[in-house]
Amino acid sequence: MFVVVGVSGGIAAYKTVQVVRALVTNGHEVHVVPTDDALKFVGTATWEAISRHPVTTSVHDDVAEVRHVALGTKADLVIVAPATANTLAKMAAGISDNLLGVTLLATTAPVVVAPAMHTAMWDHAATQANIATLRARGIHIVGPADGPLTGGDSGPGRMVEPDEIVAAALAAVDAPASDLAGLRVAVSTGGTREPIDPVRFLGNRSSGKQGVAVALAAADRGAYVHLVAAHVDDGVLHEALHHPRIAVERALTAVEMDAAMRAVSDESDVVVMAAAVADFSVPEVSDVKIRKEDGTFALDLVENPDILIGLVEERRPGQTIVGFAAETAADDGELRERGIRKRSRKGVDLLVVNRVGWQEGFEASENAVLFVDATDDVAGQASGTKRAVADALWDAVLRLR
Ligand SMILES: Cc1cc2nc3c(=O)[nH]c(=O)nc-3n(C[C@H](O)[C@H](O)[C@H](O)COP(=O)(O)O)c2cc1C
Repeated sequence: MFVVVGVSGGIAAYKTVQVVRALVTNGHEVHVVPTDDALKFVGTATWEAISRHPVTTSVHDDVAEVRHVALGTKADLVIVAPATANTLAKMAAGISDNLLGVTLLATTAPVVVAPAMHTAMWDHAATQANIATLRARGIHIVGPADGPLTGGDSGPGRMVEPDEIVAAALAAVDAPASDLAGLRVAVSTGGTREPIDPVRFLGNRSSGKQGVAVALAAADRGAYVHLVAAHVDDGVLHEALHHPRIAVERALTAVEMDAAMRAVSDESDVVVMAAAVADFSVPEVSDVKIRKEDGTFALDLVENPDILIGLVEERRPGQTIVGFAAETAADDGELRERGIRKRSRKGVDLLVVNRVGWQEGFEASENAVLFVDATDDVAGQASGTKRAVADALWDAVLRLR
């Protein structure tokens, strides 16, 4: 592949040397296009030696070869790493006052951007608006990661590691083109919290990571997503909150989740219930903190509405409904049997069954699932990152539709 690697002026430029090296080692033809500021961090000699091609920052070099557009038009893939706040702003505005800017305007290849900057710069409304604009244009944003920054403090803004940039870039080239374009999707995520008194609740260990990954995968593949989030940490929701095709709504209890999902399901082509909804709640929530008395305490609980069954009963024509089942099971056979029984009891089109336990399923970044469809058989399985599982879920939904 003909790969252009744009480098802008941040400390993380030294890590991009490894991105270039990995691509060259894998047999790709790599051309590095630094900004003038990038060369203050890593110099021309390093880029030329590592890429084995001449390096220039200006549109006025090699004019006879029309180099200023040649790189962009020849490229099969463009990576910008690190992407400074400044370069992101210029990309969003289409400014082309250097070779990197012109190359980015001249290309129709997938563009993968790895932002790197201080957390304050990343969080700034201008940067977030620029990121939203770039995403809406189909540019792939990888990271930033949350971690130690150059100044000694810590937070989101750190460039992701070189191998992650290379993997995201190669995946962007293989990515199916917007195969969910135009689809309206509702996804629920996170664990509900049922109040007991002003300081206590009944909750569960769901982190919301899998549901958020389902929403991001759908939106990246062109769908419009309404994400209903129960308890989910802000860090887990961050990317979804800034995605131009995702609207996020909060619903903290089972009753709130039921109302929110019913309301949005009316206008959705696909509904995915990935939230871990409490089966029981406290009928009379105390307004004052319940105090210790004689060493024991009994809590009466009532059953919550079964949201999935309600959605299936009211489903609109052509709508696909996907449920999640978190099951503890002794072995794969038991997991499969439980999944098949649950699929037919709930009446959903697809049930995603994942085994949970003290170490599995909840909170982890990886997952392993079975898909059970309306033929009451295992229609597939997926494992890996929660994003990989989410993409496999959408592939299964597309096969059903
Ligand atoms: C030591 C140092 C580190 C910097 N690191 C970053 C950074 O990580 N991200 C960023 O957006 N800007 C960073 N800057 C500021 C940019 O270099 C500056 O905004 C520059 O104009 C970017 O130009 P460019 O986008 O054309 O490369 C840093 C500046 C210095 C002096």
